[in-house]
Amino acid sequence: MAWEYSDKTVQLFMDAVKGKPGTHMGEIENPDGLGEHGSIVCGDALRFTFRVRRHPEDPTKDVITEARYLTFGCTSAIASSEALCAIIEQGGYTPIEALRITNEDIVKYLNGLPSQKLHCSVMGAEALEAAVYNWAQRRGVDLEKLGVRIKMHDENEGRIVCKCFSITEPYLRRKIRELNLRTIPEITNALKAGGACGSCHYAPGGLQDILNEIWGGTEAVTPATAPETPPAKETAPAAHAAGEPTSPYQRMKRIEQVVNERIRPLLKNDGGDIELVDIKDSLVYCRLTGACAGCVGAAMTLKLMVERILKEEVDETLRVIAV
Ligand code: FES
Repeated sequence: MAWEYSDKTVQLFMDAVKGKPGTHMGEIENPDGLGEHGSIVCGDALRFTFRVRRHPEDPTKDVITEARYLTFGCTSAIASSEALCAIIEQGGYTPIEALRITNEDIVKYLNGLPSQKLHCSVMGAEALEAAVYNWAQRRGVDLEKLGVRIKMHDENEGRIVCKCFSITEPYLRRKIRELNLRTIPEITNALKAGGACGSCHYAPGGLQDILNEIWGGTEAVTPATAPETPPAKETAPAAHAAGEPTSPYQRMKRIEQVVNERIRPLLKNDGGDIELVDIKDSLVYCRLTGACAGCVGAAMTLKLMVERILKEEVDETLRVIAV
């Protein structure tokens, strides 16, 4: 699947991967604010750092002078991160003022994003919030006292609703309200939740139940009325987790299963796919296909995402080799 990106999105992406002067990919050493959002295992992650010009007396008057990011993601994740850094640097904001930047500002700066990629702009706004929280802690600024509420730091706790993307109920509830998300596809586009196996869509306490509760939906969704979603597949426990000895044949089958059920849906979310070429001892030979094939982040995807999931789910000794 080829995404329809604006010229500006493509340009920002190309400039960033070429390391053109004025772009922002990287990390600030000893930053004044550091925030992260997303998970590499889930296919998208952003680490955001900024430096401020410190006000000698009043830290709330610190001004952000430099912003950098490291992201694991595709074109839209890189372009959205570039947009976020550019908006901040050009705006001369204090960290608290920077909190006014929303994912909509990022989308506007990019001249639009495909709806399926909105989560990249949301990820930037969330990482910024985390970084401002971190700055406030370092500088001794009491955000609560100033009437600034940053909740993400306690949202990592709580029941996980979408296991594929490790998304918790408190986070979902806040973002559904903030972004006025009314349907499961809207949630998936903005937050990725529900975008892989689909088993969280209509499960008790799942996405539809939360939507009904927030927006006052009264109709229970029954299997007969629910839109078709891929059936939840029972995932066999990881061999190493079960502590059972496993034969080479069993291990090969388990690798195939994890690739098909855990990794492929994540890549398909971004229009890509994976081909399992061969398995020899602890070496798993893979090839990324579809949109991922030409992606500059392909090698990183294989190493960070594919290898990490296989290590977690199958065997710590596995190594992924790109072919
Ligand atoms: S549990 Fe939500 S998509 Fe799989």
